[in-house]
Amino acid sequence: MLNKAMEKSLNDQINAEIFSFYLYLAMSTHFQQANFGGFAHWMRAQAQEEMSHALKFIDYVHERGGAVTLGAIEQPKGTWPSVLAAFADAQTHERSITKRINTLMDKAIAAKDHATANLLQWFVKEQVEEEATLDPIVTRLQAIGDAPGALYYLDHELGKRGA
Ligand code: FEO
Repeated sequence: MLNKAMEKSLNDQINAEIFSFYLYLAMSTHFQQANFGGFAHWMRAQAQEEMSHALKFIDYVHERGGAVTLGAIEQPKGTWPSVLAAFADAQTHERSITKRINTLMDKAIAAKDHATANLLQWFVKEQVEEEATLDPIVTRLQAIGDAPGALYYLDHELGKRGA
């Protein structure tokens, strides 16, 4: 059985994951409208991954006999001034999610909640991967600047992302 404080923290994280879904969906639609089909595809795959994170937390709360309470989802930005600006926002966002996961882990350890710590271990590893994926994209975009050829090449490359 989850303690109430942990149940609340996990519900907050469910909201954060659904906001992540919403943010990447907004970036995907933005890129689609800007005719960057590859970036749009990459962001849509990222959004789907975020929804799978939310569902993983939801299933876990249920497994532990807790209650899921879905709250309002904050409205994400709708447009970005450049491709770099969007990916830099994604990078900043992932770093903030990593901090959240680490704080959750601290709480689980303090509460001697080994089951939740075990779930969070998966997310700790996932955050390492998410940051490691975004960091080189942002670095490449910083190097590319406004060069259209290189931008469309990267768009093509990121369009190959699998699910
Ligand atoms: Fe669910 Fe991108 O962290």
